[in-house]
Amino acid sequence: MFIEIITYRVVGCSNIKIRKDGSLTVANIIVKNLNVFYGKKQVLKNIDTKINSGRITAIIGQSGCGKSTFLKSINRIVEEENGRINGHIYLDEEDILKEDSQILRRKIGLVFQQPEAFPMSIEKNLSYIMNYHFNYKKLELKERIKTYLQMVGLYGEVKEELSNPAKNLSGGQKQRLAIARCLCLNPEVLLLDEPCSALDLKNTLDIEKMLLELKKKYTIVLVTHNLSQAKRIADDVIFMSEGEIVEEGSSKDIFSQPKSRKMREYIEYMEG
Ligand SMILES: Nc1ncnc2c1ncn2[C@@H]1O[C@H](COP(=O)(O)OP(=O)(O)O)[C@@H](O)[C@H]1O
Ligand SMILES: [Mg+2]
Repeated sequence: MFIEIITYRVVGCSNIKIRKDGSLTVANIIVKNLNVFYGKKQVLKNIDTKINSGRITAIIGQSGCGKSTFLKSINRIVEEENGRINGHIYLDEEDILKEDSQILRRKIGLVFQQPEAFPMSIEKNLSYIMNYHFNYKKLELKERIKTYLQMVGLYGEVKEELSNPAKNLSGGQKQRLAIARCLCLNPEVLLLDEPCSALDLKNTLDIEKMLLELKKKYTIVLVTHNLSQAKRIADDVIFMSEGEIVEEGSSKDIFSQPKSRKMREYIEYMEG
């Protein structure tokens, strides 16, 4: 069924599309026959999947199976690393492989495992990005800094020290600041590559709480090696092995009734 969509701009939100019935939607990612090569080596093989909007999709699988490459294909960083992409990736109807990569990266933000804060104050980490891309007046800029920091659950913790160097933040706070930096660009999709792998449990749970809030406004793809994390927060799971998707489905089904031998072995291995 085709649903008529109108586009709105809301402070602190992406281009949220509102259906006629008033419910919100953000972009789906549709991947068709995606093959990725580094030199002669084929790293992703015939990837076909749909990543649903407004949900958290976790990508899991052994180290080296192509999880990061998959994320990097979705915002085309693979091409900067001399990788070659064949196939199609759509953001709703838009073929992202045909889009200008700079514009694309504003719509699809990628946060790495251990992002560094820019060597400037907390607020400048955000205003720098916004001044580069937009032309906000001083008051709006201030309002947006507050909004994005609130969205990542950081505002309460840092509101008295916005002009202090961001380098003094803890690992978990830096990670949330990096996500706020992505949000400054009004993305539709957030790609997160093992965002909690260097964090303790408290910081990990803070990030998870934040992601559960953010998924209402953004499509979230999360690479994680932490199966408990995938069980706690993922709606959907994609299990990869040797560059292929072996199994995918709702988190509940995939963990309670894994169909493939590879997936069962992976769960056993990870859960010891
Ligand atoms: N920039 C690159 N150049 C060449 N090979 C790469 C590059 N990045 C990743 N690879 C190779 O692609 C494969 C998949 O890597 P990656 O996507 O990082 O796996 P994962 O994130 O699942 O650990 C590995 O064999 C890795 O060595
Ligand atoms: Mg990786």
